[in-house]
Amino acid sequence: MAFRNGNTGNGTGAANSHNAKPHNATPHGPASGAAHTASAPIIETEDLWRIYRLGDLEIPALRGINLTIGQGEYLALKGRSGSGKTTLLNCLGGLDKPNKGRIRVFGEEIANWNESKLTKWRRHQVGFIFQSLGLLPALSAYENVELMLRMIGMRPADRHKRTMECLEMVGIGKWADHRPYEMSGGQQQRVAVARALANHPGLILADEPTGELDSKTGREMLKLFQTIVREQNVTMLMATHDSLVDEYVDQVLHLRDGKVVTAAEFNAELDVEPAEAAQT
Ligand SMILES: Nc1ncnc2c1ncn2[C@@H]1O[C@H](COP(=O)(O)OP(=O)(O)OP(=O)(O)O)[C@@H](O)[C@H]1O
Ligand SMILES: [Mg+2]
Repeated sequence: MAFRNGNTGNGTGAANSHNAKPHNATPHGPASGAAHTASAPIIETEDLWRIYRLGDLEIPALRGINLTIGQGEYLALKGRSGSGKTTLLNCLGGLDKPNKGRIRVFGEEIANWNESKLTKWRRHQVGFIFQSLGLLPALSAYENVELMLRMIGMRPADRHKRTMECLEMVGIGKWADHRPYEMSGGQQQRVAVARALANHPGLILADEPTGELDSKTGREMLKLFQTIVREQNVTMLMATHDSLVDEYVDQVLHLRDGKVVTAAEFNAELDVEPAEAAQT
């Protein structure tokens, strides 16, 4: 992963280079088993701005984001509440439109696509994991996952095979017939992961996926994501406040007030305001 704002690298060691461009040097080295080959970037943004307007008030949620993310990277997106994490994920996943700038995903410029093209693209290429999970309460784990495959028009026999494959992959095959309310938070989270994987996405966008989990279950989830990224060579970008992620991800991307900053800049700010550090 690289970012380009004219003020990158802090010289603390960018050991894990997954693509040809210089990396954002963070103190977080490659997690175990983080060896992949260099590949073309799957996400590139150029001077990305998202300004919300509330009456006369302008809220610049993203202020010129320049990013390059390669295939098979497992990245965390950190920043204080309101720093723009969800906004960035939404823009990259085509759920929100930037006011200015470019977004290329898998080499395609998505910022100017219309809604129907975006919807089709999302269904086939992107897996979302939202903090609220978004599982349908009346449906079993199996049905929640299978629904995604119905939406992309997969044949029934293939749907069954793929649904069970995904539930097994996240370790809840035995819970296929259970509804969300009959499962623990961690199990529900796994259903949401299985659903995000079902369409063989190249890109998984997760918004605070461990936010509601205890630390043990959170670790299991982070490890599971790591395994999925390694085995399936997908790219995963995960907004999080969870300090445990540093042990698992390849790199941490820091956001401050809608801008990408270096780890040194990010930590310097936390040093100045230690009371708020615990919240990031
Ligand atoms: N739909 C919206 N309308 C107006 N302002 C918004 C909207 N969505 C987000 N914002 C503002 O944009 C900024 C970035 O919000 P965002 O949700 O991306 O932050 P975040 O980093 O995800 O925060 P958190 O950690 O609390 O989830 C905030 O100032 C927020 O109030
Ligand atoms: Mg958010």
